Amino acid sequence: MIIDGKKTAAELREKLKKKVADLKSKHNAVPGLTVILVGEDTPSKIYVKNKEKSAIEVGINSEVIRYPADLEEKVLLEKIKELNNNNKVSGILVQLPLPKHIDKRKVIENIDPGKDVDGFHPMNVGNLSSGHDSSIPCTPLGCSLLLKKVEKNLSGKHAVVIGRSNLNGKPMTQLLLKENCTVTITHSKTKDLKAECLRADIIIAAVGMPKLVRGDWVKKGAIVIDVGINKTDSGLVGDVDFDSVSKVAKAITPVPGGVGPMTIACLLNNTVECFEKAHTE
Ligand code: GUN
Repeated sequence: MIIDGKKTAAELREKLKKKVADLKSKHNAVPGLTVILVGEDTPSKIYVKNKEKSAIEVGINSEVIRYPADLEEKVLLEKIKELNNNNKVSGILVQLPLPKHIDKRKVIENIDPGKDVDGFHPMNVGNLSSGHDSSIPCTPLGCSLLLKKVEKNLSGKHAVVIGRSNLNGKPMTQLLLKENCTVTITHSKTKDLKAECLRADIIIAAVGMPKLVRGDWVKKGAIVIDVGINKTDSGLVGDVDFDSVSKVAKAITPVPGGVGPMTIACLLNNTVECFEKAHTE
């Protein structure tokens, strides 16, 4: 089974579009998403365009603020403060990476946790790891929705997460724990990654190494979620060697068309959730 992220994301957007229309008639207001882009990073520019397009499609009020790469940190922090206080703005996303002279941590910590659609604020990170209500980072949330398409009950499954980043690996681990999986987190210092993967019922590959996971690393019937987007001479490839792994896995996400489209749909989902929470408090 090839897990169709494009289709699942389209279904989620459709659901959100209806929800936004309902919210509009109920509150006479729609969720608003403000994305801040600093500098000229090409992939970031593409991601931000796609985020804007998808937000508009579901009826979210979308705003993109673009700054030059030499932006002063204090100007960015002032803008965040202004957006925190603007009740038309439900969600704030500062696109990463930021230029080196800007302190990423400080920027994230200055976003109102209730508007943190990325789920990167320490309060949301803490709430997620304590099992409390929180914003959930978009890519891991997308992965877990795709997993649920294949298997409703993940309880007792052994999941191996490759990569320990704050964006993907760590929050993914928390989501899998919530589903009662037994989770192994692996990384660059893991001694025998192949042996770890071979024990997995679920593999989440999020390291950014082209075709790292091969067919002989995967147990027959495992579910494989590929978070990697690697630019190579032969085009975009994931962290998983699709051709060999798809022969042994029960289900696998393709690249492109797997996790990628889900990330943006989940960002819209988080924006709508922030709006709903702000309107029920
Ligand atoms: N850059 C790459 N992925 C992401 C993401 O999920 N959120 C933000 N803010 N920046 C990113």
